[in-house]
Amino acid sequence: MLDDILAWLRCPHCHDPLTRDAGTLGCAQGHRFDLARQGYVSLRQGRSRNPGDTTAMVLARERALTAGHLAVVTRAVTDTAAAWLGDGPPGAVVDLGAGTGHYLASVLTACPDRVGVALELAPAALRRAARAHPRLGAVGCDVWEPLPLVDDAAAVLLNVFAPRNPAEMHRVCHPEGIAIVVTPTPAHLAELVAPLGLLSVDPAKQPRLHSALEPRFTLLERREITAPLRLDRAAAHAIAAMGPSAHHVDDATLADRLAACPEPIEATAAVEVRVLRPLAR
Ligand SMILES: C[S@@+](CC[C@H](N)C(=O)[O-])C[C@H]1O[C@@H](n2cnc3c(N)ncnc32)[C@H](O)[C@@H]1O
Ligand SMILES: [Zn+2]
Repeated sequence: MLDDILAWLRCPHCHDPLTRDAGTLGCAQGHRFDLARQGYVSLRQGRSRNPGDTTAMVLARERALTAGHLAVVTRAVTDTAAAWLGDGPPGAVVDLGAGTGHYLASVLTACPDRVGVALELAPAALRRAARAHPRLGAVGCDVWEPLPLVDDAAAVLLNVFAPRNPAEMHRVCHPEGIAIVVTPTPAHLAELVAPLGLLSVDPAKQPRLHSALEPRFTLLERREITAPLRLDRAAAHAIAAMGPSAHHVDDATLADRLAACPEPIEATAAVEVRVLRPLAR
């Protein structure tokens, strides 16, 4: 599927267009990027010290998303993107920090004339994203580096629970396109914080997000979505292990703490969905 997204990609070193020759993408300056056997390509400037999510986190995320625990978020992202893409500008649907490609695949299913680019750092996530949808191309990159995308590549730019680089988001978002940014609110999974020893969402996160994006984007819409979750231990385990707390609480400790929780474990999914338009350059 990478062929269909080539027009939106650029060489990370010289910014020239890329063409494909069998299992390699390359530019006129001679920079070459091998396609991974699993169907994605890494377009990285250098070697980042940040590996992205671990394989265990990616597997936990895949379990939680496939089970539909965050279906309400998927629906909100998909409906918003599809509504804007109806008579939106040319461009791909780009997902920054796409994880397994879950949200991007859902948007592409709802928008049959668009292709999608999943940008992601973690190889385990890239492997899954590459298979997530026939119109999706998965590209390895670090969102803190200049993105390997041409200017205005994105008719819709998704950023769901993932790191964001406002300057690059602004460059790649079409002037008539939108960015859909989803972040957890302090109420997100708050019921699990004490019993499982999870990290809580920093209440300063929303104002920080706003001030980072404000100089480059105007806010068109902001919606808070909450949904009650009734989880068995396995589901609560997946939800806890897919998030940033996984870096602090190991799997065995999590299992021990969950064993002490009566089922069902009740929690709340609480996110804020922002729709933003890039300001004129
Ligand atoms: C919390 S997950 C969200 C994934 C996906 N958007 C979802 O909601 O299912 C954050 C993702 O960002 C990726 N990530 C972290 N740092 C990154 C970076 N510097 N560049 C690209 N991706 C990064 C992680 O590997 C992970 O897949
Ligand atoms: Zn080049």
